[in-house]
Amino acid sequence: MEELDPIETASVDELRSLQTERLRATLRHAYANVAHYRETWDTAGVHPDDVRDLSDLARIPLTSKDDLRAHYPFGMFAVPREEVVRVHASSGTTGQPTVVGYTAGDLDVWASVMARSIRAAGGRPGDVLHNAYGYGLFTGGLGAHYGGERLGCTVVPVSGGMTERQVRLITDFRPRVIMVTPSYMLAIVDEMRRQGLDPRESSLEVGIFGAEPWTDQMRLEIEDVLGIDAVDIYGLSEVIGPGVAQECVETKDGLHVWEDHFYPEIVDPVTGEVLPDGERGELVFTSLTKQAMPVVRYRTRDLTRLLAGTARTMRRMEKVTGRTDDLIILRGVNLFPTQIEELLLTLPALAPHFQCVLSRTGTLDDLTVRVERRGDASSSDGDAAGAELERLVKATIGVSVAVHVVEPDGIERSVGKMRRIVDQRPER
Ligand code: DLL
Repeated sequence: MEELDPIETASVDELRSLQTERLRATLRHAYANVAHYRETWDTAGVHPDDVRDLSDLARIPLTSKDDLRAHYPFGMFAVPREEVVRVHASSGTTGQPTVVGYTAGDLDVWASVMARSIRAAGGRPGDVLHNAYGYGLFTGGLGAHYGGERLGCTVVPVSGGMTERQVRLITDFRPRVIMVTPSYMLAIVDEMRRQGLDPRESSLEVGIFGAEPWTDQMRLEIEDVLGIDAVDIYGLSEVIGPGVAQECVETKDGLHVWEDHFYPEIVDPVTGEVLPDGERGELVFTSLTKQAMPVVRYRTRDLTRLLAGTARTMRRMEKVTGRTDDLIILRGVNLFPTQIEELLLTLPALAPHFQCVLSRTGTLDDLTVRVERRGDASSSDGDAAGAELERLVKATIGVSVAVHVVEPDGIERSVGKMRRIVDQRPER
């Protein structure tokens, strides 16, 4: 294996002492240079000097997406705008976009954690890397791009979309590594088949999938159809972009958080109280080295738990299977689209393309799962599998949903993040 960064296998004590030192510097930097942090911490009666070790971090107030939005566009920057060499932004489909900024040093850190991620996934210097994450304001494309270059890969900057061309470039350039959302990988697989190609015959050996929730069942599906190793990459623009946490190919047991740069906590999503490792809750991050836009105790809204390190010293986060925004509450029962994904992939007549449609009759919410039947299954097998899925959902999740099995290609394909929930409920 390529040589790891020394900190990836350092002792836990060494890691904690580095984190403590970096945390204290980050808090001082944020307090001195960002009015929002100074004001909220003053109001809460805490000062950076009160934080002497990592457990004292809990005294500092949490930061939300709304806090970032309130300071749109550049109000959370901690350096003069002239020192910010790049900005990215969230799409803003759910309101005001959030803008994030990077100094040249921040971009250097980002490229290095992305290189580390690609290496942990099994990428090596010299590999051809097909990058189908979207380029632009979204952090996926450029994040993977510079990480691939830093590792020494030959990066093919395809971006998302034009699926026919994706297949052609994979055939012609023979990449060993692909980086793309798992949902768009499935669309590329469909296109390979449409062109009469066997996906298992492609040159691909490693897929680095993220930017949206996907289950272990989906991993098996993708590994099987392509004959590759499929590993999970996690990140969010507010914290840096992709490359916050990465699953190691040799263990595939959750994602190692690159804790020397991003300090994770799990809090109770309702009370905000810190939970011990092993307990499930909302993931919160504090950046430890970012200069342009340090984030302190940023609430991700992603639900997971922290586990001890295995292949690396850094703690692992369990696969994110839900975020508070995607929680569907149906007649008092909580459910995430990933739970549906897990169940439907056990039924051979159903394809991994599905959407959850929410509607309302009277005062009651209804959930209809629209799912495609596989091309090689008959309509009657598809319908029987649909009825079986209704039964499985009722038996394991405890709520009634309607399943509509549609023809192959009946569900719109994503070229980036898949929209799993289609909310057709009228506004209250
Ligand atoms: O999605 C960064 C990224 C790009 C990650 C490419 C991985 C690969 P945002 O657009 O800011 O950034 O969206 C961040 O996406 O809070 C999660 O809810 C979700 N997400 C990202 N990675 C995963 C993953 C990028 N591996 C939001 N599993 C996060 C589940 C993920 N959800």
